[in-house]
Amino acid sequence: MGKVIAIANQKGGVGKTTTTINLAASLAALEFQTLIVDADPQANSTSGLGYNPKEIENSIYECMVEGVRPHDAIIQTDFPNLDLLPSHIDLVGAEIEMINLQNREDKMKSTLDGLREEYDFIIIDCSPSLGLITINSLTAADSVIIPVQCEYFALEGLGKLLNTIKIIQSRLNTHLAIEGILLTMYDLRVRLSNQVVSEVTTHFQQMVFNTIIPRNIRLSESPSFGVPALAQDADSKGAVSYLNLAREILIKNGMMPQEA
Ligand SMILES: Nc1ncnc2c1ncn2[C@@H]1O[C@H](COP(=O)(O)OP(=O)(O)OP(=O)(O)O)[C@@H](O)[C@H]1O
Ligand SMILES: [Mg+2]
Repeated sequence: MGKVIAIANQKGGVGKTTTTINLAASLAALEFQTLIVDADPQANSTSGLGYNPKEIENSIYECMVEGVRPHDAIIQTDFPNLDLLPSHIDLVGAEIEMINLQNREDKMKSTLDGLREEYDFIIIDCSPSLGLITINSLTAADSVIIPVQCEYFALEGLGKLLNTIKIIQSRLNTHLAIEGILLTMYDLRVRLSNQVVSEVTTHFQQMVFNTIIPRNIRLSESPSFGVPALAQDADSKGAVSYLNLAREILIKNGMMPQEA
């Protein structure tokens, strides 16, 4: 049975989409069947993989709100073992339309549960909000990865996010775990980056992944080519660090031997 991991932080621009695309591509490159679910109306994961959100006919929106079968929405990407359940701007409307539905927190879960047998990993790219779609994503997930940017105000909003996770754990999804806090956009030359790393690791200790994602040009430019960094430049620091993250997660989940 596949594992569902939500990439969440209501703070904007911390690396959620970059992590979604490149972690998923790394898992796929290691031959795990992987599905990206784009749960953000900005549709950055969809466009970052080379698809025009305006041309998407069936998205996660139609699956959650109109009962379209996920198989009628899933796109097989050019990257082996990597599929995409895309988004488009209509997803903004889903928040409002779902308010009147019964079990409105469960729509993502019921969409994804039937896919667990087909995928080893389902990675959900959340939007920068703690709205109903994100609540749906956290309700559907087995675990959550929280990207934290090595920048000013890195920890801002983290308390609120952890609190939301606690509420979901107590009311909607008792087995939701925190997979880890991921430090992103680390710049060796910037003293502040080092301060954030030591502050976050002191505070959250073993919750923080050993892998730290550096600031890397390939990671920021590969979406404009519609590919993961791994497909553009497999030796780039960015691609290698997401491969390391994938291995760290696989080892932690007993899906890869320690020495591999
Ligand atoms: N490690 C990195 N090195 C260089 N640039 C990065 C890195 N990670 C992310 N970026 C860039 O920073 C910006 C924000 O990243 P990203 O879109 O992944 O964040 P996000 O959390 O998904 O944003 P949003 O909250 O809007 O969904 C993007 O332009 C992205 O290309
Ligand atoms: Mg994003």
